Amino acid sequence: MKKTVSVIGLGNRGSEYMGFLKAFHAAKTEICAVCDCRRQALDDIAPKFAVPEERRYLSTEAFFAEGVLSDALIITTQDASHYEIAKQAILTGYKLILLEKPVSGVKEEYTGLRDLAAENGVLLIVCHVLRYSNYYRKIKEIIASGQIGELVTVNHTENVGYFHFAHSFVRGNWRSEETSTPSILAKCCHDIDLISWFADSRCVSVSSVGSLKYFCKENAPAGAAPTCMGGCAAKTTCPYDAERLYIKDPFYKAKFIKYMKRTLTGKAKNSRADVENALRNGDYGRCVFLCDNDVCDNQLVTMTFENGVTAVLQMNAFSDKMFRECHIVGTKGELIGYGTKLELRLFGGKARTVHTFSPNIGGHIEGDLRLIDGFVKLLCGETADLTDITTIEATVASHDIALAAEESRKRDGAPVSVLPQ
Ligand SMILES: NC(=O)c1ccc[n+]([C@@H]2O[C@H](COP(=O)([O-])OP(=O)(O)OC[C@H]3O[C@@H](n4cnc5c(N)ncnc54)[C@H](O)[C@@H]3O)[C@@H](O)[C@H]2O)c1
Repeated sequence: MKKTVSVIGLGNRGSEYMGFLKAFHAAKTEICAVCDCRRQALDDIAPKFAVPEERRYLSTEAFFAEGVLSDALIITTQDASHYEIAKQAILTGYKLILLEKPVSGVKEEYTGLRDLAAENGVLLIVCHVLRYSNYYRKIKEIIASGQIGELVTVNHTENVGYFHFAHSFVRGNWRSEETSTPSILAKCCHDIDLISWFADSRCVSVSSVGSLKYFCKENAPAGAAPTCMGGCAAKTTCPYDAERLYIKDPFYKAKFIKYMKRTLTGKAKNSRADVENALRNGDYGRCVFLCDNDVCDNQLVTMTFENGVTAVLQMNAFSDKMFRECHIVGTKGELIGYGTKLELRLFGGKARTVHTFSPNIGGHIEGDLRLIDGFVKLLCGETADLTDITTIEATVASHDIALAAEESRKRDGAPVSVLPQ
């Protein structure tokens, strides 16, 4: 018999994960119930997965009132709702839950969920998707094999991409700490999770500096208007012109912009008129210098781990492309990662390129796809091995570091201890 899955939150992430279940795991799984507070999302998505009308819910209250509807639950709503929905899911009796990151920006909430999951025998997995990609698994494997000797330090950069940063962290859903979390948590809990995973030790101390340097009214060009389509005098020279980013620029009409357009129109299928309307009237047509954003556009974090490994993470908005770089240094060699390609240099030997295979399907260099593969294996009882599975235990470590980094940043880089949980 097929295993059943319910999904709460049918936006970008939810529909991507549902697509993977349908495309690659339909013989073993079926989506039996969905919930989204937007009727448009239910109407767009539920029919594609043949979810019966009576199993489409417009509120989590209505959804949870039915009791346990499926063998597993995926929660892909926005950040601020993760804690309450996951808590409700555990209390309702769901035993396998896949929850989007970040879990919460409040320590008591994410540690509380960890404890609640343990008390109720629930496997709560958090979508730290990068760990599942062949590329990052290869890095972990090389470190663990001892080829580069003892790990000394990790230098990791998250180049968010200027257009991505503007979309998500200036105009969009992750622009404000109050409704989301600081960008070092929202954007970089993945990177911190990777660094902790590589270090294989507990982080004991953090310090951080950073700021919202550029996307503020002081940097607005002469003649800037509140919206790009509302008579802005700098429109033709501004790289953040919304009309250019979402409509005119051919490069960004590729995969990422398709994803963005769904966000700005709220519709899976959208016309040019829908996009124009959204740019004229919605958040995504606003001038990037005149928004209500407050999250950092650049931040540096240094970390010291119990085993002596050190690390530096840099997050910045200002890159032409979206890519992560890392330099991993051991006593006998180094590993340099350019986002998809790896170079292994052993001291006294020759450098060699390590190839990892990434099918061009889904996001995060196949991490999204592999996360769902791993989730289905657990769901179908095909593995009980939780090594390298991103359970809430791992999340607690990364979230603790991110919160400590934010505390340090607000204290001008003063070291902050990451206390045992
Ligand atoms: N793992 C990753 O790499 C990764 C990448 C991007 C986003 N995310 C996270 O995934 C989550 C979802 O992001 P997204 O881009 O899909 O967002 P989205 O806005 O496209 O989708 C969220 C959906 O949830 C619905 N929703 C919101 N609150 C609800 C509620 N209380 N009850 C029912 N439905 C509700 C919305 O209507 C929307 O359809 C966010 O928390 C985000 O931070 C994770």
